[in-house]
Amino acid sequence: MCSEDQAIEILNRGGVVAIPTETVYGLAAQIDKPEALKKIFQTKERPFFDPLIVHVYSAQQAKDYCDEWPPVAQILADNFWPGPLTLVLPKNEKISPLITAGLDTVGLRCPRHEKTLSILRKIQIPLAAPSANKFGKTSPTSAQHVAESLPGIQVLDGGECEVGIESTIVAVKTEPQLQIELLRPGMVPWGEIKKTLKNYTVEYIEGNKEILAPGSLDDHYMPDIPLVLLEQNMSDKTLLDSVNKKLKLHFSSFVNMDLPEENYMAARVLYSRLREAGKCKEDFIVLKVKPFMLEEAWAPLWDRLKKASSLKI
Ligand code: TXA
Ligand code: MG
Repeated sequence: MCSEDQAIEILNRGGVVAIPTETVYGLAAQIDKPEALKKIFQTKERPFFDPLIVHVYSAQQAKDYCDEWPPVAQILADNFWPGPLTLVLPKNEKISPLITAGLDTVGLRCPRHEKTLSILRKIQIPLAAPSANKFGKTSPTSAQHVAESLPGIQVLDGGECEVGIESTIVAVKTEPQLQIELLRPGMVPWGEIKKTLKNYTVEYIEGNKEILAPGSLDDHYMPDIPLVLLEQNMSDKTLLDSVNKKLKLHFSSFVNMDLPEENYMAARVLYSRLREAGKCKEDFIVLKVKPFMLEEAWAPLWDRLKKASSLKI
């Protein structure tokens, strides 16, 4: 663990440090320090083709790094920043290709956490930060989670993450017409984004699989033992037989995982429950799918559950 001043010192001298945000903890480096940016990928064992999100303290600062800042970007920032929304916009030369995996766009976000906002204001340089976990594994929502996943990395403890799952990501394009594409669902609802821009003519695109978004790489957010999503009623014995047959394994026990009914409460505890369940002595985790989970408000949770699971029965 480290203090805010220590975190700033590490960042200034080109190191990486884990920082709290309202969504999940991030593994941060200053965007002007290429060695530190490389260290993010090495620490996470993350492929270089997966671009990083750049964190800023205001829309004013975000603008400095974009080739274009259309009025809709300003409106979305005014409505949802600081908060769990990432805007993907054309980048300018101040953003290294190392951050964007060579793309000509950059993902920008102003996080809603006082400690991280304070660091951003003090250093005046944006921070590139992916979630502070090994690539493909469950994202951390507490300083303790980071310490478990990335031992040896200094963590600025900012308590438990209030939102609990990663930001909503939208790409904003203005040519040949105004277009907004949902790249990753999150707790800023897609419907709210549309409502906010109701005075504009926008072409909305949902989930284009061809553009790289987190978890479009199939296995993501994976707990330490397999997660099985159970949609049917069946006895424990039938479930075990069915899992063993489908996964070609010899499992003999499982643990049940539960989630609260309110979507925002479920999001807040999802990753810690997956981690806890993953540590148990049983062979796999079962989440029984309940009717309330099928409501629209659960879409961002389903995005994570599908990618975290090994099987649906
Ligand atoms: O809530 C969050 O967004 C957290 C916290 C730490 O801010 N960060 C996070 O980062 O989830 P990460 O690296 O785990 O996911 C970022 C994803 C990338 O996998 C990529 O798919 C997408 O954001 N992304 C970033 N820049 C992009 C770009 N220019 N175009 C398309 N997708 C982009
Ligand atoms: Mg991640």
